[in-house]
Amino acid sequence: MFRDRPEAYGARLGREQATFLFGGGLAALEGDPWRARRRLLQPAFHPDRAGRLAEIAQEELMRLTARWDASAASGQAIEGASEMRELVQRIIQRFLFGRQIGRPGQVSGELFPVLFARLQWLYQPHSRLAERLPSHRNLRFRKALEEFDRAIDAGIEAGPPADLLALMAAAGLDLREQRDEAKLFMAAADALGKALTWLLYVLASRPEIARQASEEAQAAFGDDAPRLDGLAALPYARMVIQELLRLYSPSVLLGRQATADDQMGQTAVKRGTLVFANLYSAHRHPDFWPEPEAFRPERWQRDLPTSHEYAYLPFGKGSHTCLAQHIAVPLAQLTLATLAGRYQPALAPGARVEPEVAVTFRPRGPLLLSLSRR
Ligand code: HEM
Repeated sequence: MFRDRPEAYGARLGREQATFLFGGGLAALEGDPWRARRRLLQPAFHPDRAGRLAEIAQEELMRLTARWDASAASGQAIEGASEMRELVQRIIQRFLFGRQIGRPGQVSGELFPVLFARLQWLYQPHSRLAERLPSHRNLRFRKALEEFDRAIDAGIEAGPPADLLALMAAAGLDLREQRDEAKLFMAAADALGKALTWLLYVLASRPEIARQASEEAQAAFGDDAPRLDGLAALPYARMVIQELLRLYSPSVLLGRQATADDQMGQTAVKRGTLVFANLYSAHRHPDFWPEPEAFRPERWQRDLPTSHEYAYLPFGKGSHTCLAQHIAVPLAQLTLATLAGRYQPALAPGARVEPEVAVTFRPRGPLLLSLSRR
């Protein structure tokens, strides 16, 4: 699907859903229009410009730690998933608009749960029919979508645009196009929030890994805040993130729709068939990963410690691969060094953490953690 005949799988699964939620932007475009839009947006994530994103991330992490210091001192538990989702939203909103949009926590805490629940529902049979009914769920969804659009439009109109929107405005994208792309970026960045939520779980459940990451951050930065330009001194943090994205990849399925007839091994694939690459299984396949279920950062001392180049695809493959893939790992490294260097999180007594798939891979229910200062 990705290697031998990518042209036969030209349509991204979820295109219809993506259009419904994100309008006609990058997520819904295919072929030449997609390539042109991608070329336009890619420079914002070029390592040369990514410094700005990292600078924002560093400031937001400082803001977070000021709050977490108070929670650590008072013994008040934090909820890891909402903390990481809000952290990532604050970063991406500043990168787009130069400020937060909507009411505090509105996008990540109020609107996203309704919008993502709907995105998942759209994959169910008969959903296109069900979506036309004036049900309570549909009305709630439409209201959330309208509020999301209004918050974004207000953010754009308040100007001047920050980094990512400035790029779109300079290229002549109109308000609707800018809004659609802004929505996609805000939703796509949530994958980083999911990965960081699992990172907190890993730090809480494997204190030895947290200790090693903390010692490395201390040795590299002392009491200063970790910085993007010092990440080369954090090889252990990089390996932890690579292993995190193997076992806790936010995407578990990559879907495409066949746009032509094809043959996959013994299986005839008819045009229109939905085909999924199962990342969850590939990342745990015993033929490609020794001790596949073990969380072992050390296996990443080699660049790609598996014999199969398609056995590790946390950012996808082929067209529509993650636009932010070259900056997502450094951002996660920065977060790891900052948080592990400062706290040892612990799971709340009696907490049972179980995974679930709801568009992305996440812990079911709240992730309650207590924090101790190092
Ligand atoms: C650990 C963090 C992240 C992971 C694992 C991840 C993963 C992915 C994956 C698997 C896809 C491809 C889906 C497909 O093939 O259908 C994707 C697409 C995308 N991601 Fe990410 N992502 C992450 C962070 C981010 C962030 C922080 C942003 C934005 C700031 C972002 C923006 C995008 C965009 C715009 C696309 C769509 C690209 C297109 O359609 O051409 N991602 N991501």
